[in-house]
Amino acid sequence: MAKRTTLKLVEENPDANREYRRLVGELWTAQQRQMHSLHYVVSYRASFKPELPDFCIRRYSEKGAVVLDPFCGRGTTPLQANLLGRVSIASDVNPLAVRLARAKTEPVGLDEIVLRLNEVDFRRPVDLGAYKDTFAPFYHPDTYRELINLRSFVARDPDRVNRFIELIAISRLHGHSPGFFSVYSFPQISIPPQNQRQINIKRGQVPEYRAVAPRIIKKAAHALRDGFTSEFFSVSSANAYRVSDARKLDWLASNSVDLIVTSPPFLDKVDYVTDNWLENWFIGSTPDTFAKNVVMSSSLDAWQEFIRDALAEFARVLKPGGYAVVEVGEVESGGNMLFLDEVVAEEATKASDGETRLNVHEVLINKQNFTKLANCFNVDNNRKGTNTNRLVVLKASRRRQRRR
Ligand SMILES: C[S@@+](CC[C@H](N)C(=O)[O-])C[C@H]1O[C@@H](n2cnc3c(N)ncnc32)[C@H](O)[C@@H]1O
Repeated sequence: MAKRTTLKLVEENPDANREYRRLVGELWTAQQRQMHSLHYVVSYRASFKPELPDFCIRRYSEKGAVVLDPFCGRGTTPLQANLLGRVSIASDVNPLAVRLARAKTEPVGLDEIVLRLNEVDFRRPVDLGAYKDTFAPFYHPDTYRELINLRSFVARDPDRVNRFIELIAISRLHGHSPGFFSVYSFPQISIPPQNQRQINIKRGQVPEYRAVAPRIIKKAAHALRDGFTSEFFSVSSANAYRVSDARKLDWLASNSVDLIVTSPPFLDKVDYVTDNWLENWFIGSTPDTFAKNVVMSSSLDAWQEFIRDALAEFARVLKPGGYAVVEVGEVESGGNMLFLDEVVAEEATKASDGETRLNVHEVLINKQNFTKLANCFNVDNNRKGTNTNRLVVLKASRRRQRRR
């Protein structure tokens, strides 16, 4: 677990004519993989470090609070909220993200996983129709057969154990080491079959047989090694999960959330749909049903409109006095450097709904030499990565009623 140090925050440009403070500091450790082992079970594009929600949840909420992440990705905020004794609500427009978040906050025992895997008939013959063109560059035919059998076993009865097995299987679909089901491939992105074919030719590799069950057991043991408290299971039993557009949270009651900790897509920097095609295939999710709502705006105007609509929903669902922390970075767009925290701060005031206002409480800037977070954001700091996390902290308040 991460070692806690005394936090030193310095106010940036205190004389500026602003109604809120911008505080800069090293908010959490730059070291990798210091938090609960389950956080790192699966890769996901542009996920934030668990230290980020850990910091925010401790700073802006109490135990028992309800914490929402409406762009939940791989479930970093929901899992950390439960680990800190808060109830979580996880939603994302991408069904894959909600599956990951749910399974991570509903862990099961290793013994249950082993027993369940014993029930799977991995050797049942399967239709190899799609194999040659699509899957052959990645998997040996026997590995593919095992994957198809596991996939249909899990889909038949998606209970808690099967959902957790599915999570671990997703995490093993492609990567570098022999712990993955695939031949050497990219761990972060599921690349198209034609690109994998080229890698195979270049490396002179042919997919060899990789048994599925032992790899799942080994990975599950690793992911579960930090264990869980009874408090974790008590709060997580009250969690809620939903596939939903963040601009339309009508399934959530007004004034029902204490804290939002989230990170929206940054303009069009990541393609959450095509980059996960193998994962979507494994869970049987068809992108045509949701892709149009996955925000990938190349223009700042369109992004502003999107974030304003999402912030209006945040204003509605937050309890008065509740906080929303929106993490954004600096991105390059059309040759200009955009500081999205400034955009969020500006849009928050416009987004306030009829009854509730969102005021900028503070902006926190986590400065580190380099974060592994996202070397996809085209920020030229010689190593092509975003080097700050910018947290816009908004506080909800009720609008004053006009006197008659
Ligand atoms: C930066 S990622 C969030 C990563 C997350 N914080 C984590 O640690 O894994 C942004 C997420 O927004 C989701 N998304 C894109 N458009 C959305 C929308 N309109 N409504 C809800 N989620 C959306 C994407 O599917 C993606 O999971």
